Amino acid sequence: MKKQVILAAICLTTASVFYTSCKKSTTTTATTPAATTPAGPTLYTRVGGTAMVQDPQAASGTMIEKGRLTLRSVVDSAIYVIAADANINSYFHVLLAEVGAGNTTGFSALSENFTDFLCTATGSTNTAFVYGGKSMKDAHNPTYSSRITTLVTSAAFDQFVTDIGTALAKNGVTTASTASTDPNLIPDLVALLETTKSTIVQ
Ligand code: HEM
Repeated sequence: MKKQVILAAICLTTASVFYTSCKKSTTTTATTPAATTPAGPTLYTRVGGTAMVQDPQAASGTMIEKGRLTLRSVVDSAIYVIAADANINSYFHVLLAEVGAGNTTGFSALSENFTDFLCTATGSTNTAFVYGGKSMKDAHNPTYSSRITTLVTSAAFDQFVTDIGTALAKNGVTTASTASTDPNLIPDLVALLETTKSTIVQ
């Protein structure tokens, strides 16, 4: 059952996100993720920041920054959403094939790297979260990455962002839930993802 769930999840996501530790790939230089809001609290702070909370996936007493927990949760959810999305899950066939064969190493790496990417991109200054994967151009170009076999179309990119929105909602982050506290949170998160489009869609 667990294997089925992971397989389904993988099917879709991009790996979105969110933990093994093969990060710090040295095959290419990682692109520094886009900067966030120029003034005021960073997006990382707005999704939880550095307050330490219990990691629900770890033993009692194992703490995690609330901001990372939020982003990791969204990444995990996104993987399930994307894996079930026939519009774009074919992009992840390398990952899916691995998982289908019982090998989750690549999946874990992707999850961690995607979470690191989002932490850094949203403004985390925790050096443990520094993104060490491929640049966005290389990670999404078959010439430089064997984990993707076709270039990403504009429509696929848009669908991916839609799926991230679904993942946010699965974690309680909706237009309604943020209306009174941080009405620009979702638009700002989407805007951040959109900054990568011209690089990813090649
Ligand atoms: C919202 C913008 C996106 C961001 C920020 C993003 C980020 C990432 C990151 C951080 C990685 C891991 C790179 C590494 O470990 O070196 C990755 C891998 C990948 N991405 Fe994206 N991505 C985005 C959009 C997309 C889209 C739209 C697609 C296809 C529809 C896609 C398909 C993939 C695939 C197939 C991989 C390789 C997965 C694997 O390890 O098997 N990504 N992406």
